Amino acid sequence: MGLKFQRLLFVLIVQLAVVAGEFFKPFNVTYDGRAMIIDGKRRMLISGGIHYPRATPEMWPDLISKSKDGGVDVIETYVFWNGHEPVRGQYVFEGRYDLVKFVKQVAANGLYFFLRIGPYVCAEWNFGGFPVWLRDVPGIEFRTDNAPFKDEMERFVKKIVDLMREESLFSWQGGPIIMLQIENEYGNMESFYGSKGKDYMRWAAKMAVGLDAGVPWVMCKQVDAPENIIDTCNGYYCDGFKPNSNNKPIIWTEEWDGWTRDYKLSSCILVGVIEFPIALHKTLRLQLLAFSNVGEVFRIITCRMASLGLVKLFNPVFSFQYFGGTNFGRSAGGPTYITSYDYDAPLDEYGLLRQPKWGHLKDLHAAIKLCEPALVAVSSPKYIKLGSKQEAHIYQDKGQKCSAFLANIDEQNSATVVFQKQAYTLPPWSVSILLDCKNVAYNTAKIGVQTSIKTVGVDSVAYLNEPLPMKLMAPYEVEYISQTWETVKEPIGVWSARNFTYQGILEHLNVTKDQSDYLWYLTRIYVSNEDIKFWEESQLIPVLTIDSMRDLVYIFVNGQFTGSARGKWVTVTQPIDLKEGYNDILLLSQTVGLQNYGAFLEKDGAGFRGQIKLSGFKNGDLVLTESNWTYQVGLKGEYFKIYAISEKGTVEWSKLPRDATATRFSWYKTYFDVPGGVDPIAIDLSSMGKGQIWVNGHHIGRYWTLYAPKDGCQTCDYRGAYDSNKCLTNCGEPTQSWYHIPRSWVQPSNNLLIIFEETEKNPFEISIKSHYTETICGKVSEDHFPPLHSWSLPETTNGTVVLNRMAPEMYLHCDAGNSISSIKFASYGTPQGSCQNFSRGDCHSPNSYSVLSEACLGRQNCSISVSNDAFGGDPCHGVVKTLSVEMKCSPSSTITSSLM
Ligand SMILES: *[C@@H]1O[C@H](CO)[C@@H](O)[C@H](O)[C@H]1NC(C)=O
Ligand SMILES: *[C@@H]1O[C@H](CO)[C@@H](O)[C@H](O)[C@H]1NC(C)=O
Ligand SMILES: *[C@@H]1O[C@H](CO)[C@@H](O)[C@H](O)[C@H]1NC(C)=O
Ligand SMILES: *[C@@H]1O[C@H](CO)[C@@H](O)[C@H](O)[C@H]1NC(C)=O
Ligand SMILES: *[C@@H]1O[C@H](CO)[C@@H](O)[C@H](O)[C@H]1NC(C)=O
Ligand SMILES: *[C@@H]1O[C@H](CO)[C@@H](O)[C@H](O)[C@H]1NC(C)=O
Ligand SMILES: *[C@@H]1O[C@H](CO)[C@@H](O)[C@H](O)[C@H]1NC(C)=O
Repeated sequence: MGLKFQRLLFVLIVQLAVVAGEFFKPFNVTYDGRAMIIDGKRRMLISGGIHYPRATPEMWPDLISKSKDGGVDVIETYVFWNGHEPVRGQYVFEGRYDLVKFVKQVAANGLYFFLRIGPYVCAEWNFGGFPVWLRDVPGIEFRTDNAPFKDEMERFVKKIVDLMREESLFSWQGGPIIMLQIENEYGNMESFYGSKGKDYMRWAAKMAVGLDAGVPWVMCKQVDAPENIIDTCNGYYCDGFKPNSNNKPIIWTEEWDGWTRDYKLSSCILVGVIEFPIALHKTLRLQLLAFSNVGEVFRIITCRMASLGLVKLFNPVFSFQYFGGTNFGRSAGGPTYITSYDYDAPLDEYGLLRQPKWGHLKDLHAAIKLCEPALVAVSSPKYIKLGSKQEAHIYQDKGQKCSAFLANIDEQNSATVVFQKQAYTLPPWSVSILLDCKNVAYNTAKIGVQTSIKTVGVDSVAYLNEPLPMKLMAPYEVEYISQTWETVKEPIGVWSARNFTYQGILEHLNVTKDQSDYLWYLTRIYVSNEDIKFWEESQLIPVLTIDSMRDLVYIFVNGQFTGSARGKWVTVTQPIDLKEGYNDILLLSQTVGLQNYGAFLEKDGAGFRGQIKLSGFKNGDLVLTESNWTYQVGLKGEYFKIYAISEKGTVEWSKLPRDATATRFSWYKTYFDVPGGVDPIAIDLSSMGKGQIWVNGHHIGRYWTLYAPKDGCQTCDYRGAYDSNKCLTNCGEPTQSWYHIPRSWVQPSNNLLIIFEETEKNPFEISIKSHYTETICGKVSEDHFPPLHSWSLPETTNGTVVLNRMAPEMYLHCDAGNSISSIKFASYGTPQGSCQNFSRGDCHSPNSYSVLSEACLGRQNCSISVSNDAFGGDPCHGVVKTLSVEMKCSPSSTITSSLM
């Protein structure tokens, strides 16, 4: 073929690609029992979850490129039906719901896309993603063989698939989408629906496949998925998992790398106070996670082989939450999930790297990627027992490609094993990856990446059995958001002609349609002189009882706040004071995120169930269930949108004096400036009680300050299997103090902040802060493995892995827009302690400080070789040296001058 012709062909191909799709040359996606097959090649794919509405479009490009940088091949997300179709037939595909834009940005970064349509998605999202109007479709029953439901579901799924096709986003069109999901964890629910459950599942599969999207569909946690749908696993561990057919690859749709937090509901009866135990942040320790990852990669393979007696290689896809983000507005599910959906993910709620988790996973992904040639080249790994609790899994083909995983499943002790005539020491409960069956490139328990401590919030830390770093929140750093506030009171009770009266108790959601969290119930009772006398003589007090209630109720009698209770379907008993004559009983029922998980969600509802009665009357109980009740949906302030920038004049704000006595149900307003620079910003609402906040008309979310119990956070040991009670953090702290305000929602000054506060709290102590990595620490020893970038892999040659034997490296970095401003500790030798508590050992290179200072000060990032050469000689012969460093990052703009 002549050169000219070749070039012509190339031009033609490129043009074809552009015509068919904008991002990739069109490619087909298939699969077999071994792997996903992308454009004819078996692949081992790593997928990262980013839920687009949990960030702003302005954040997406950075999140996607950081995911790519962290070694992610695929971005996955659910599709949020209630965000896209808040009113039946009226679609929203803009702003945070601009799904097409999100998919295109992923493609523009060269990453694939896994679209989990659902449209039931769970996702710790309000109502599991279902629009609340769906409850009102006549005759509807969700997620079962029910025609009205199936019609609605099919209409929405088709809408999404058609949209993706119109935008040429499927792989065969040159787009990034390689896989789709229908339903979500239905396997856990199917049995509740009897035979109709199975019929529905089969229908859903058939309907999905019938949409002709041209890429494979999966169903997660669906052991009975039909032949043409891949069943996949979700969980902390998936080693017991195998798909239900030999023709399907192993896919781990959710590898739980963290978890979310909620205001855990107490089942006790609560009278008059708001003081509850809350859930703790479940932080997975690094080594644990990494072990889970790599451990499963090969365990899944061997387990599958052992049980089926097959000689095959299985290349799983594994997928995990890469970025959690924020449940803006009232999108948090639950009930009672918090506004943050940080998830302890590799990218934190604000989009910054969570170190060392991000870096350790990046290394893991890179190590696995370097093994990919061997992993896909052989049809079966060889399994060798190296000891009673040690094993090797070897992938070696005839062409000399070879990678091995050495595992020590002993939870207590490290072990030295001999593999192919070489000795390896394996820390307890860990896996070492030998890229070329000789050199260790990674061990799941050895962290060689930096620890970061941010100005706001605490990150998980990975050092083996070492204490968590201290929190850096000195009181003098507090910056109050404003000292000038205005206020207006929200009326307590019925506030407009939009009220209505009904004889009986209406179900909360049937009335509010979830347009607001709040629903007022008002009734009037008559108390006779005899009753008063009876109470005086008997010394009894009348008691209001609600048989069953969720999520929160405030009780008022004759306009006075009397008590509150919260919980999930709890009984409420509240002693009350009544006077002779007419008395108003006023209840404010509240939802705090709708149920997102479980069967029969359409029947779940909210508010009150059973009877509401007053007991202790002379003539017995006074049942209020069939009384006339006056209803009012929502707050007056919500109705008049007093949080909107355009709002002018419907309410009269008055200045809030500094010494004002705080009152219940107050709106507060101020204008504020934001800290300069590019760092994300957060506001601290831990001085407030419960309510909601808006910035420049954007609904940030609900807040609720509840404290976790002081104990329960035992020291965390990464060793051994993970369970949901292991490694709790956040003891004694508010479940959430800091609330993310996206930069794109504010300008430098004069931002409108509106708060609705339900309890007796004034806003003077609300503070604002930039969120950035302030303290960075590193600890790398001479005997650590060389940096992964020093490995080079042959593309098409003989399979030899070429290793340029390099010294281990320490890489340190500040967030974008920040630079290293000072060195708090640096020692090459035998330093002791951990981050924020390093101290010199007997051996210390006198050049430690100058080497670090030369390499790092004033820079955003730096790499230091951990070797005698780099430190101008050996400070102590015959001892393994360690480099420990602690430095400070500051916004670049503030430090350039001070370094001069
Ligand atoms: C994808 O598969 C279809 C159907 O088998 C085929 O017509 C098409 O050419 C394939 N596309 C590519 C890019 O391989
Ligand atoms: C409640 O509604 C009725 C009938 O529309 C109206 O007369 C009454 O004023 C309303 N109550 C309030 C407090 O606005
Ligand atoms: C809610 O309203 C629906 C009709 O839209 C009705 O079928 C259902 O029983 C109501 N739920 C309750 C608990 O009252
Ligand atoms: C509710 O109000 C209606 C209309 O005023 C009245 O006829 C009815 O008797 C009242 N019911 C109760 C239980 O008070
Ligand atoms: C494999 O290729 C590398 C570089 O291409 C070469 O240096 C090496 O000698 C080759 N090994 C064998 C066994 O052919
Ligand atoms: C600091 O390190 C020393 C040993 O170097 C240790 O004894 C001490 O407990 C550590 N303190 C904290 C708070 O971690
Ligand atoms: C490292 O810092 C330099 C400037 O100090 C910057 O140009 C570069 O982009 C940084 N690299 C990364 C990966 O952040």
